[in-house]
Amino acid sequence: MIRRSRIVGCGSYLPANVVTNQDLADRGVETSDEWIVQRTGIRSRHVAAEGELTSDLALAAARAALDHAGLDGAAIDCIVLATTTPDNTFPSTATKVQAALGMTRGFAMDVQAVCAGFVYALSVADSFIKSGQANRVLVIGAETFSRILDWKDRTTCVLFGDGAGAVVLEAGEGKGDAADRGVLSTHLHSDGRFYDLLYVDGGPSATQTTGHVRMHGQEIFRHAVSKLSSVVEEALVANGLEPSAIDWLVPHQANQRIIDGIARKLKLPTEKVVLTVDRHGNTSAASIPLALAEAVHDGRIKRGDLVLMEAIGGGLTWGSALARW
Ligand code: ACO
Repeated sequence: MIRRSRIVGCGSYLPANVVTNQDLADRGVETSDEWIVQRTGIRSRHVAAEGELTSDLALAAARAALDHAGLDGAAIDCIVLATTTPDNTFPSTATKVQAALGMTRGFAMDVQAVCAGFVYALSVADSFIKSGQANRVLVIGAETFSRILDWKDRTTCVLFGDGAGAVVLEAGEGKGDAADRGVLSTHLHSDGRFYDLLYVDGGPSATQTTGHVRMHGQEIFRHAVSKLSSVVEEALVANGLEPSAIDWLVPHQANQRIIDGIARKLKLPTEKVVLTVDRHGNTSAASIPLALAEAVHDGRIKRGDLVLMEAIGGGLTWGSALARW
């Protein structure tokens, strides 16, 4: 028998304020609903209210995930929070959430892998469980990307949104094959040679400012399709599974065309792909747990289903995770 990280709860939170493509055009962004929908599939996104911080979004999602699992903060050994938009440069946003959940033991940390953040955080959490360092881990993806957008740059500001999602992992046992419940594998990659393809033009050490998102969209698009295809293949081969075994693809939600490209390669019908990009935009590290929570709570993802997650982000960083629900 081996230790496996079972996903025993999930939850999410979206800020109340919905901004449509037309709203952006009305506010002076030189764009149109037609352009954004055709190139990205995005129709609207949520934007955090003034004073609403990443930790607030994270806490709401964490509470929803704990409720779903029937647990409270005291039962959690560790928080791994993926974000690119922390409340402050330090301490970690995870420690703020830890205190707010009434968790006075264990440990909490942030993980930075931009849009691949949730897959990275899930992998870190799974490793803590497998090594016996923790029995229950709260994994959160939370972002207020609206705070680092240049609203005068139409090539980036139309793409992102704010939100948070969380899952609770709990140690269980399995036989070590693909029929086990829980996280079956995670595969992570990064290649810093592509640092300048998607970045923020500020930071505490470089400029002492927060900076704004800058992106070479077409090159990111090209890398996304090829790197995600190979990391998905890597996950399937490692588990001895064919694409036909996948019940649900829960991809990072950056662009409908990237998602369609991966689904086509896997020969997955669109009904098996969980999509939120139309209503959430790209919420970076929050996009996968937001999509997971939606598909679990509306009854699509059921016990025993095989769920494939994949994401790519600035760095470049990318990865996949395969889990049996
Ligand atoms: N509204 C209207 N026109 C626009 C807009 C806009 N918001 N943005 C760009 N344009 C214009 C450009 O100026 C250009 O005009 P020109 O031909 O007169 O010069 C034209 O539209 C085409 O621009 P392209 O950049 O060639 O458009 P493309 O088809 O590549 O689509 C997009 C751009 C949507 C950004 C695409 O490249 C993409 O999705 N890339 C991947 C980005 C991504 O997914 N990033 C996130 C992944 S990593 C992460 O999640 C952090």
